[in-house]
Amino acid sequence: VPLPRVLSGIQPTAGSFHLGNYLGALRQWVALQETAEAFYCVVDLHAITMDWDPEELRRNTLTAAAQLLALGVDPERSTLFVQSHVPEHVRLSWVLECVARFGEASRMTQFKDKSQREGTAGSSVGLFTYPVLQAADILVYRADEVPVGEDQRQHLELTRDIATRFNGRFGDTFTLPAARIPEGAAKVLDLQAPEKKMSKSLPPAGCVFLLDDPKVTAKKIRSAVTDTGREVVADPVGKPGVTNLLTIHSALSGRSVPELEEHFAGRGYGDLKKELAEVVTDFLTPVRERTQELLDDRAELQRVLARGAERAREVAGRTVREVYDRVGF
Ligand code: ADP
Ligand code: NA
Repeated sequence: VPLPRVLSGIQPTAGSFHLGNYLGALRQWVALQETAEAFYCVVDLHAITMDWDPEELRRNTLTAAAQLLALGVDPERSTLFVQSHVPEHVRLSWVLECVARFGEASRMTQFKDKSQREGTAGSSVGLFTYPVLQAADILVYRADEVPVGEDQRQHLELTRDIATRFNGRFGDTFTLPAARIPEGAAKVLDLQAPEKKMSKSLPPAGCVFLLDDPKVTAKKIRSAVTDTGREVVADPVGKPGVTNLLTIHSALSGRSVPELEEHFAGRGYGDLKKELAEVVTDFLTPVRERTQELLDDRAELQRVLARGAERAREVAGRTVREVYDRVGF
């Protein structure tokens, strides 16, 4: 039985990924390599839909790829590449733009959110067509499954609608991708505002970046907002801060939350934070060191990514040739 094919992408972010990105998404990338034929990409094309700096983008793209490798993405088992290195994404995207309807693209709530800043008229056309490029990212590999968070569900629906319309008009070409709700994915909350999800867009004190200095990491965890009371028990409504710390601990230590509650019985929040700081820095230290090693040998990193792009192009090229033939090119 062939393994299901999975496609997932992540934007290169400034500086580094954070614990929410890892526990909510990237950890599943690593796990899925066992049971799927995985295509993983750093989606740099998507990173220019809003303001960007070319040098920063170049640096962030390499740093993102280095972190993925350091976290355990294995380029022998998975196809790891940079989106802009595979021109087939854009070649397919144009055709899909001509299949997608303006009305359906206009319903995408992410555009409505992200266009707030510049206004609809001042936003780039790319910000508007972003979900169609995302559809191309997925369909060009004929992916069976796409690990998605709640925020991407609507885009995946659009992908399926575009694929269905194309298949109906030009003959069966695309696989309809299914959403894969990642198993064991944890939603990580901001350490300073545990009613919000941890995000790079919030002040850095609440966000544990993978490449932070361990002292900074420990300080952020020690300063985490906790709740009234003193018992270390999970209660998402009454104790969102403590629950968040337990969730992170559990995800990284592999010990269940009830087991941790027992472990911390009779002890206070301070003990939880102290131990969690160790668990997190023990996890992050080798990731940080490995990332730096990879970045120090830029030529080798670029070779790994070039090999990934080559493998990706073999698959994506077949799809685009078939599509271009079917639409009359
Ligand atoms: P950010 O929210 O920092 O801007 P992104 O939107 O770039 O992060 O998210 C990249 C990936 O990480 C997505 O798959 C998203 O669902 C996941 N993710 C981001 N933040 C969290 C979080 N706090 N908890 C769980 N998953 C998260
Ligand atoms: Na975000």
